[in-house]
Amino acid sequence: MIKPHGADALNPLLVTDQDQLEKLQAEAASLPSMLLTSAAAANAVMLGGGYFTPLTGYMNLADALSVAEKMHTVDGLFWPVPVLNLADDTTAIEGAGRIALRDPNVDGHPVIAIMDVEAIEEMSAEQKDLITEKVYGTLDAAHPGVAVFQAQGNKVVSGAIQVLNLSYFAEEFDGTFMTAVEIREDIAARGWETVVAFQTRNPMHLAHEELCRMAMERLNADGCVIHMLLGKLKAGDIPADVRDACIRKMVELYFPANSVMVSGYGFDMLYAGPREAVLHAVFRQNMGATHLIVGRDHAGVGDYYGPFDAQAIFDDIPDGAMDIEIFRADHTAWSKKLDKVVMMREAPDHQPEDYVFLSGTKVREMLGAGIAPPPEFSRPEVAQILMDHYQAEA
Ligand code: ADX
Repeated sequence: MIKPHGADALNPLLVTDQDQLEKLQAEAASLPSMLLTSAAAANAVMLGGGYFTPLTGYMNLADALSVAEKMHTVDGLFWPVPVLNLADDTTAIEGAGRIALRDPNVDGHPVIAIMDVEAIEEMSAEQKDLITEKVYGTLDAAHPGVAVFQAQGNKVVSGAIQVLNLSYFAEEFDGTFMTAVEIREDIAARGWETVVAFQTRNPMHLAHEELCRMAMERLNADGCVIHMLLGKLKAGDIPADVRDACIRKMVELYFPANSVMVSGYGFDMLYAGPREAVLHAVFRQNMGATHLIVGRDHAGVGDYYGPFDAQAIFDDIPDGAMDIEIFRADHTAWSKKLDKVVMMREAPDHQPEDYVFLSGTKVREMLGAGIAPPPEFSRPEVAQILMDHYQAEA
């Protein structure tokens, strides 16, 4: 099986030994504590589940700057996006060696992790802008990822953590939320060797489904892990439970049994396009995938990135930095001439009018009005789930 990133074994920071967990919970009650941002809590969940192997906690300022500028830590570990715990006010934890980190996404803000504080550093406005510019490619406050990042405080609270729980994900997305440890175990149990991962934050329409099928066929893969984002999204994106239902229905009806694993991870969407695509590759390697599909406008939003920037970034990654490979998919759409979904670069004789294109806005309008998108765009069973959702919202 493919090795984890930068390590021989996964390093999940979730404490699973019951005795140790009880001791830590008791200790947490007497420690100074800080309330995390949702972004920092999401980092704890990813660290807890082994997805961020080999990191041991939150980065300090020097590592964050190095990762933003050069895509590696000060020590040379390849890593594309700073893993930070940012705060506005750290007076409550000043001088403390060990602190409890509280979860903003669960009622009562229970402790999600305990940290050995390495440093509390002030990030200057220039440093924050530099990180923003490098990671998101823009400083525009209208970019949803930039807005979330810039709204966080300027104190960088770094250090190793022990994770006590995985927030609300296991309970809310029972059967779908999985750690990297669990996915590796599942892949091993299925005996899969060549494994394609599909990142998604959407219900899967026909183009997405065909993309998975094409990648599996062309790579002669044993299986595909559809790995959906279960954390926070921008307003207007479709809630995770609805996406989960759509994806499960599609897999049940249209893929051979045991060829696809449906799973999800607890991370907030960054909308960082190319940099996020690289982060996606790192944590898909950690969960045991040998390939990641990167298509058009991967992890993008608006017009901030070129449609294939998230593929081009992989050209500049040093050899040996990662073991996972990228399956570069061209824009896929239904061809009226060929009566199937094709990659556009493979149909050079086609004109734009030979394809069925529907904008996201148009599709949302149709679903809201109870009109199913055409079968060339969406499976009818998936369209039905989406129509039910949009009409319940209206
Ligand atoms: S993402 O933000 O998670 O990337 P989405 O769920 O829409 O958004 O896309 C999942 C994956 O499918 C990404 O790799 C994306 O590039 C790819 N993709 C989505 N639609 C198309 C399409 N029509 N043609 C090619 N690739 C696509």
